[in-house]
Parts: sequence; C-alpha cells; structure tokens
Amino acid sequence: MVIRTVDLRSDTVTKPTDAMRAAMASAEVEDDVLGSDPTAFRLESEIAMIMGKEAALFVPSGTMGNLISVLVHCETRGSEVILGDNSHIHIYENGGISTLGGVHPRTVKNNPDGTMDVDLIEAAIRDPDGELFYPTTRLICLENTQANCGGRCISIEYTDRVGALAKKHGLKLHIDGARIFNAAVALKVPVHRLVQAADSVSVCLSKGLGAPVGSIIVGSKGFITKAKRMRKALGGGMRQIGVLCAAAYVALQENIPKLQEDHRRAKALADGLNQIQGLKIDASTVETNMVFFDIVDASTISVVKLCKILEQHGILMMPVSSSSIRLVLHHQISDSDIQYTLSCVQRGVLQLQAEAYNK
Ligand SMILES: Cc1ncc(COP(=O)(O)O)c(C=O)c1O
Repeated sequence: MVIRTVDLRSDTVTKPTDAMRAAMASAEVEDDVLGSDPTAFRLESEIAMIMGKEAALFVPSGTMGNLISVLVHCETRGSEVILGDNSHIHIYENGGISTLGGVHPRTVKNNPDGTMDVDLIEAAIRDPDGELFYPTTRLICLENTQANCGGRCISIEYTDRVGALAKKHGLKLHIDGARIFNAAVALKVPVHRLVQAADSVSVCLSKGLGAPVGSIIVGSKGFITKAKRMRKALGGGMRQIGVLCAAAYVALQENIPKLQEDHRRAKALADGLNQIQGLKIDASTVETNMVFFDIVDASTISVVKLCKILEQHGILMMPVSSSSIRLVLHHQISDSDIQYTLSCVQRGVLQLQAEAYNK
C-alpha cells in the first residue's frame, strides 16, 4: 500500500494551493478575447513590471509562448532561428516553428553549462550577401534555466554578450524563460536585469512558480500587439481566463520566495544520492531545482526496475536514458520527502544489487 506520494517527475505536477483555489473561486472575470478581463490585466501588468518590459500576454502553455514569440520575430517565411541543439524549443515542441511557421532552425551545440559558444553563434549567422541560397537569420534563442543541461543558470554577462551580438547583426533575442525565476533566485540577481538584453521572454507560471496553468510572454508593446493576433490565430485566445490568472497571481506572491528552498533541497538530494554506492552525480552542477543522476553500472541496477520499486513506495521519477534519471523539486516537496526518497532509493539499489548477485 502506498503511504505517501513524492512526485519528482517535474515541477509541472504541483496542485493548486487552498489560497489559489480561493482566488480562482472569487476571481473577477470578463471575456479576455474582447480585451476586458480585469484579473488577466492585473497579472499581465504585474509580470511586465517585474520583467522590466513594456507589455505582457497570458498564453495557455510554454510551448505556445515560445511558438508565438518565434513566429512574431520571424514573420517572413524562410527566416532562420539560431538555438541550442539541446533546447526545449528544438527538441520537445513538435518542430512547431517549422511546421506552423516556416521557420528554419539552425542549431548550435549546447555546452554542459547550458550556454552556446558565442563565436559559434556568430559563425552560424547567415551572410546576407548569400540570400539567394541561404535562409535569413532573424532570431537567436536562449533557454534559462537550461533544462536538459540540468537546470543550469545562464548569467547576465553571457545574456548581455548574446544580446550585443544580436544587435550587431540586426537580429532579435528571445529567451525561453520557463524557469527564469529559478535562474534569477539562484544567481541572486533581479529578473528584469537578467532579461534586459532580450526582446521577448516566455515565462512558465505552471513550473517552479506552481500555478496550475499558463505562461506569460513579455516584450515591447509592438511585440505584444502582434503576439495577441498570433495567439488568436493559433487558437490560444481564451475567454474568462481570470480564473487561471488569479491562481497565477497567488503563485507569484507566494512561491517566488520558496524557490531558494527548492534549490537547497535539490542540493541535499544530490549530495545524498552521491553517498549511495552505485549512483553518481556531479553535485556542483546542481544550481536550481533539477537533479540528474547516473547509474554507474546499469547492467546491475536497471533504471526501469529502480523506478518501478520506487513507484511502489509512492516516489515518482523521470527516466531520461537507460542509465540516468531526472528529478525536479517544487514547493510541494518537503525536507522529509527528501529523506524518505533517499532511504527508499538506498533500499531499492541494495535490492537490485542483491538480485544481480544472487542470479
Ligand atoms: C525549458 C522549457 N521550455 C518550455 C516548456 C514548455 O512548457 P509547456 O509544457 O507549458 O508547453 C518546458 C516544459 O517543460 C520547458 O521545460
């Protein structure tokens, strides 16, 4: 019998708190497609101000936030975007920028710290003199934190350098900031400064911030006007979204201060996993709320079997390969959940080692 649940698959799994549910129940709402939902307006104004941009727009998901942003920056078909080969936009968003927008992706290798070498980005920018043959580079995308690289933070200095490069070549800079607040908290910098060089940022409300649904994109007034049209074209214009924005507003107030604790617990989890014989993790790479750990001998400890054993104890994890597992912390994971997880992992590993030994 499962006695408790510790869901570490993602920070998207959080349930709305009582305060969020109460705010949703009493939210003042109107039709947002007609532009008059006061609760959406309050949330958008607040986030635009926090992010240091002129305007903001609520969208249903991070995927749609990125898609709208890329399509607005790359209005002409045959545009090209430079982005990381390990980026969420490139890997996990169904190739939407090409299938829906006719935008060509040009990938640059992501380093283990989530950056791309700036000289490689510059080398990937197409020479406008070759426009008879080449697509036209119009946009560079960064991801902060970089999820597939382990939730690594991209610094102000690096972002400013890429922003300066984009300006020099007449390009735009978009940041997939699904977890930008995690980055700002871990780097101890104001979030508006971190994204100062960006023309647009997509921020997920339903990840580290813990809201049930939604993302926000921010940028100039002109960018958001175009984004609103694109959102409608993609079917993302929704009516009484104040019920969702009310919960997100509570998340913004309640959960940003908790991110530091998520990061502390992620480090504690990484340190604890490192103590377990048969597991390996470079704890110095754990900067925010994500922990990726490796199985040293995957022939003895099968990722699938380990996850199955842990599931029987109510612990849910995300296998990412035959030898590694991803864990993501969020505000509904406590210190005691971490201790419980570590002791169950320890027992699971011992069980699998004993089974392999007795074969
Ligand atoms: C870095 C990053 N960007 C974008 C997204 C897309 O967000 P959504 O699942 O809301 O579409 C995710 C989702 O996990 C993500 O991790």
